[in-house]
Amino acid sequence: MSRPLGVGIIGAGVISQTYLENLGSFPDVSVVAVGDLLPERAQAKAAEHGVPAWGTPEDVLGNPDVDLVVNLTIPQVHVAVSRAAVAAGKHVWTEKPIGLDRDATRALLAQADAAGVRIGSAPDTLLGPGFQSAKRAIQAGVIGEPLFVQTAFQTQGPDLWHPEPAFLFAHGAGPLLDMGPYYFSALVSLLGPIAGVDARGSRPRLERTIRTGPRAGETFPVEVPSTVQVLTSFAGGQHGTHLLSFDSALERHGIVEIHGSEGTMVLPDPNQFDGRIAYVRPLGVLRDGMKTEQEWIEIEREGAVVGRGLGVLDMARAIAADRPHVATGELGYHVLDVMLSAQDSAASGRYFEIESTVAPVPLLPDGFDPFARTLG
Ligand SMILES: NC(=O)c1ccc[n+]([C@@H]2O[C@H](COP(=O)([O-])OP(=O)(O)OC[C@H]3O[C@@H](n4cnc5c(N)ncnc54)[C@H](O)[C@@H]3O)[C@@H](O)[C@H]2O)c1
Repeated sequence: MSRPLGVGIIGAGVISQTYLENLGSFPDVSVVAVGDLLPERAQAKAAEHGVPAWGTPEDVLGNPDVDLVVNLTIPQVHVAVSRAAVAAGKHVWTEKPIGLDRDATRALLAQADAAGVRIGSAPDTLLGPGFQSAKRAIQAGVIGEPLFVQTAFQTQGPDLWHPEPAFLFAHGAGPLLDMGPYYFSALVSLLGPIAGVDARGSRPRLERTIRTGPRAGETFPVEVPSTVQVLTSFAGGQHGTHLLSFDSALERHGIVEIHGSEGTMVLPDPNQFDGRIAYVRPLGVLRDGMKTEQEWIEIEREGAVVGRGLGVLDMARAIAADRPHVATGELGYHVLDVMLSAQDSAASGRYFEIESTVAPVPLLPDGFDPFARTLG
């Protein structure tokens, strides 16, 4: 048996808290270093979570106990930080999106291949018991053959509650790139690659106002469409519609419906690790006076609900077992390609074929228990 995987975190901001808590509870990984451009942030996180080493990103990359770097920096530097980690001989798990442009992200994947190290890419919500149980049920045929899908993420926008919301309306974000990874990663891992997209977008307000915090009242520019509607064609023959909006007065998100030949299933919010899974079967004949309410059949979820960090744990075990991990860099790249193509389609009004593809995404192994010790 090999030893637990040594993990070094780069980026000690907001999301590092939940990663540090969860990774610290898995016996198969050991967080050995934290680094940040602002080393004092890394120092504070290391002290709080009992991590033995802290410092700059270079300190993490030079640490011989680090086997895998968890990249929790901001999207604009994801590829640069991941490439530096690969150059240092480390495996990488990166927060989403894996990168912001195709060429740089492809270069990262090629560099990792050549170096013989692995890339994993968020979101790892698709490793949670909610999505995994739904996928098992669909693969077992409870709704027959999947035919078409519908997803919706619609809110008034994060400027309603975020004290520094400008970055969420800037190039590299917007509802498409910020929230799209959850929806498209889940669907691709369920139905396979997307072959083409058509999209329309709008920017009803070119400027928005911060509503909360010390900068409330300040305005900021909206650089990208704040509403995008995407029509997808899957290589497997299904099609989908996807609403991603920061402009809707109706707050409704996490809607994922898979319509099959023998039923329709509602899946958990793809930005959560758990949630309701239920399906309905087609009604028989509807006669006058007959009850039209459909009976919901609930599906039980299997596995512990943990949260972010599952993808790193899966990589640790997959590396040790020499099996593929679930949330790969190729999946992250394909989803990025889909989103950038939707962005191009919204700008030009044209249909875009998707050049990239991805191998079938495996389920987690049966009985995957995050808290079991299987290494070392
Ligand atoms: N906050 C969330 O709820 C959330 C949820 C899911 C995913 N994410 C993703 O996680 C990532 C981080 O988000 P966050 O909210 O923690 O951001 P954050 O701004 O709070 O933290 C980012 C940290 O990275 C550091 N950093 C920036 N550039 C760096 C570099 N070149 N080298 C080393 N460190 C650098 C910053 O100093 C900062 O401490 C983003 O990719 C985001 O999309 C965040």
